[in-house]
Parts: sequence; C-alpha cells; structure tokens
Amino acid sequence: MDATQVRYRSLDEGSTLAQFLTLPYSLNDEIVDDIEAHRRRPEWMWVAELDGLVVARLAWWSNPGEDAPELLDILDVRDARDGNHLDAAGRLLATATAQVVTPGERPPEYLRFVPPDWRVDDDARVETEALMTLAAGTGARLFVERRRLEWRAGTQISPRSGRLRFRAPHGDAEILALMTEASAGTLDEYTRLDLETMSPADAARKHFYGEIAAQVGPRRWRVAIDHDGHPVGFVTPGHNHYHPVIGYLAVLPRYRGQGYVDEMLNEGVSVLAATGVDHIRAATDLGNTPMGDAFKRNGWAEFERSINMTWRPPSEKM
Ligand SMILES: CC(C)(COP(=O)(O)OP(=O)(O)OC[C@H]1O[C@@H](n2cnc3c(N)ncnc32)[C@H](O)[C@@H]1OP(=O)(O)O)[C@@H](O)C(=O)NCCC(=O)NCCS
Repeated sequence: MDATQVRYRSLDEGSTLAQFLTLPYSLNDEIVDDIEAHRRRPEWMWVAELDGLVVARLAWWSNPGEDAPELLDILDVRDARDGNHLDAAGRLLATATAQVVTPGERPPEYLRFVPPDWRVDDDARVETEALMTLAAGTGARLFVERRRLEWRAGTQISPRSGRLRFRAPHGDAEILALMTEASAGTLDEYTRLDLETMSPADAARKHFYGEIAAQVGPRRWRVAIDHDGHPVGFVTPGHNHYHPVIGYLAVLPRYRGQGYVDEMLNEGVSVLAATGVDHIRAATDLGNTPMGDAFKRNGWAEFERSINMTWRPPSEKM
C-alpha cells in the first residue's frame, strides 16, 4: 500500500464524529457524553482513512479539565487480518502520538478491553494480538491483564457472619493509614510498581488522590472492625463517571487468609444495593487470585478483561 493514500486526521482537523463511530467498540456509547464532559477532546480523537473508509482510529481520555491525556483507551483497526489496515493503524498511532504527547514525555498507558476468553476465541485473539503488536511497535509492553467484573441486582448477597461490624471511616486520614498498611504483601501490580520507587505512605496517597478520592457522588465507604475493636480493613463502594463501583477493598496483612474479603465485598455490595443500583462494577489483576476468587464465590460475572500496556524504559522492571 502506498502510505500516502491514507489520510490521518484528528476530529479538529476535518474528520468527523460520525466517521469516528464507524468502528465498533464497547466504549462507543460513552463517547458523546465524554466529549460534552471534557473527558475527550477533538484533538485527541483520530481516524485513518483509506479511500474514504475509516480503517483505524484511536482516542485518548482524561479526567475533566486535564491538560494532557491520561489514558489511550481506544485503538481500533477495521480488519485485524488486513495488512493495509494494520499498517495504517500503526502509522496512525505514531502520527497522533507525535502530535498529542509532549516530546520526551512517556505516553499515557494503553488500555484495551477484550472478551474474557480472548485467548481461545480466534477472532478476538487475532485482534488483541494485532493491537498489542501495534502498541509494542511504538515501545509499549504488557504491564498487567485485569478481570472486569459485574454484580447484577438479584444476585444473592451472603448474610453477615457476625465476625465483623462496619462503620464509616474517621476521615480520609484513617483510609490513608489503612491503605498504607494494606500495601504490604499486595498482589496488585500497580501498587507493587509504586512501592519500587516510593514509600508505602506515598504510594497510598498517590492511589487515594488519583483514584479513590476521585469517585463522584456521596461517599459510602466502610471500615471493618473485629470483636476487639481493631480495624480489619476497608471497602470503598461508590460511583465513577460511568458506573456504581467497588473502588477498592483491602484486608490488613495480619487478618488475611480468614475469608474476611467476602464479608467486606458483600458489605460494599449491600451499601450500593440499598441505594437501588441495578449493577456494580469492579476490576482486579488476573494474578490477584484471592480477590478474583472472592468475586467468583459471591456471584460476580467476569464480563471482560483489560490489557494494560505501558511505555517504560527497558531498564525499568515491569
Ligand atoms: C486480596 C485480599 C483482599 C484478600 O483478602 P483475604 O481476606 O486474605 O482473602 P482470603 O481469606 O479469601 O484468602 C484466600 C487465600 O489467599 C491467600 N492470600 C490472601 N491475600 C494474599 C496476598 N496478598 N498474598 C498471598 N496470598 C494471599 C490467603 O492466605 C488464603 O490462602 P489459603 O487458601 O492457603 O489459606 C487481600 O490480600 C488484600 O487486602 N490485598 C491487598 C489489597 C488488594 O489487593 N485489594 C484488591 C484490589 S482489587
């Protein structure tokens, strides 16, 4: 293919939202709202056209009002078995990145949602591997694969065992202290990566202010207390921009291995279910088996996985 036949344009350079939406993906329904809420900008949304047909597209996302994108969460190719389409997608990624990401800065993480069985479904595998190869071609590497899970209204919530009682936290400081303590021995890759370069307290602050405290709507967080009055852990049920979520849940190291995770998860579910939500979302690393098992035991459906890729110097441990 002559690369000059392909046109690479962002939405503020003449391509249109209608064109952008010609490729299917699970985030398509959110895009109009995202633009209105300033989570997406026309200059962060790009398409590659081959003879007028959109053969690839990409878009970055940020929290409202951020100057720079925080996530590359859309990268699509029309036909992952077509070399011309793949070539256009690769060039689109390089071209758009050069314009959107400040030179010398590390590009934001790439997040791709895939079916849970993507390794055995042939079409899903070909597409996922093609996209991972495209990102790898610009220096990205797999950081972690995560399960995306959903609880649906009507799913039975196991009754409390009576081993724990729950109360609201005594302010952000208590949650920060519990997060700091809970980071020891964590199986969560993001926390583990942070702990390579920062103290547990700094890692907790980064996670808290970057994600947990960014929940929208009223906080319904709960601290679990044992019979002796000691905190065992906490759970942060709430809402992100799109869904009711169990934002985070942790059992302090000395209490692990006693099944407290189930009670804390179910407390978070009960708190949200009492507000009338019809579903709740959560995510956990594939390697965090105690957490994944707890979701499964308590009736959560794994509806999707995410492939999280990052651009990092090769010297850095992944
Ligand atoms: C994930 C977590 C909540 C599990 O809580 P828990 O109440 O200990 O879970 P369980 O009692 O069901 O543990 C099941 C098994 O996993 C083991 N386990 C639990 N957490 C573990 C950890 N961090 N590392 C290694 N093994 C762990 C338990 O010892 C137990 O082993 P056993 O079956 O041989 O006895 C807890 O490890 C934790 O708080 N981790 C840090 C925060 C985190 O990852 N939160 C989830 C983010 S999505």
